[in-house]
Amino acid sequence: EKAGFDHFMLKEIYEQPKAYRDTMLGRVADDGKSVQLSELTMTKDYINSIRKVHIVACGTAYHAGLVGKTVIESIARIPVETDVASEYRYRSPIITPDTLVIVVSQSGETADTLAALREAKRNGARVLAITNVVGSSIAREADDVLVTLAGPEIAVASTKAYTSQLVVFYLLSLYFADTLGTKNTAEVSEILAAMQELPEQVESILEQALVLRDIAESISSHPSLFFIGRGIDYPVALEGSLKLKEISYIHSEAYPAGELKHGTLALIEEGVPVIALVTQEELYEKTLSNIKEVKARGANVLGIGNVGYEEEANKSVDTLFSIPRTLPILTPALSVVPLQLISYYASLALGHDVDKPRNLAKSVTVE
Ligand code: F6R
Repeated sequence: EKAGFDHFMLKEIYEQPKAYRDTMLGRVADDGKSVQLSELTMTKDYINSIRKVHIVACGTAYHAGLVGKTVIESIARIPVETDVASEYRYRSPIITPDTLVIVVSQSGETADTLAALREAKRNGARVLAITNVVGSSIAREADDVLVTLAGPEIAVASTKAYTSQLVVFYLLSLYFADTLGTKNTAEVSEILAAMQELPEQVESILEQALVLRDIAESISSHPSLFFIGRGIDYPVALEGSLKLKEISYIHSEAYPAGELKHGTLALIEEGVPVIALVTQEELYEKTLSNIKEVKARGANVLGIGNVGYEEEANKSVDTLFSIPRTLPILTPALSVVPLQLISYYASLALGHDVDKPRNLAKSVTVE
């Protein structure tokens, strides 16, 4: 049932192109100019009435929600807050009838997320669930459900469910943008066309798995490392760090690249690996100057950058891994893939149980 792969995690990483295709299938109009989400029961009037969005989730799904915040705000121009589900209820969130609460959960059974959903409904908000399991508790109790069509995810570490959640956030934002008029047809078509290229682009990253295995093996001998990134690269850094900790037990921290010098730079010593995401053209120069700060302290920097920008980046990093060119807003759907593979190979190199890491359950049904 692992279809020739050594672990479910690796199989699921390789299933991401298919998960992207399946999650988009039937949701993009034939002319490529709009998104159809026929399963949504919300009306255009309701969409026009949304004043803010709260995204609530745990773990990896929370990291998808952090990307979702930037995606919804930039494409649909609705203000978004993203919260960890176990914190949401206890901070008296301001939930009003014009708040759309989006809960994100692969399993649809996470107790903290379910409790947040109930709290949102009690306060009169409408709840939209993004989940991978159609008949789950969260799917049943939400007002609307958008299913990620990632297929069953067996490995405890979430990979294809996370990336499919990103695809759903892109689709939902474009759907809202159509009603709200925040993007014109040409802009929507451009994003959708770029999304259609993602599956093949992921495949081209997967073809370089052995390069990432070598990188992972060299990282695996270090006790601690850092992930840095700016803008939409930062939540991807958080996800890369979580994945590595979960299955390899190597300590790491993710930092917004500009924030290191406000505290943690002292921990960057000779030889400390730093994985720097540098995919945002607008922030390119700033991130490169943060890379120079860590390099000056002896860090060994792996850059995750864009094809076409190698020359400039190569001057700043020790090793560069390039992802195919896509629109800046879509890069998380590609840049997380090398990080997933690095985590996988680091765990493997250290002889850990990749699919069943210690102290972590696939579905956390206690609060
Ligand atoms: C990470 C991981 C956990 C889950 C979290 C939420 O690889 O598996 O962090 O993402 O427990 O689970 P769901 O999405 O099922 O609500």
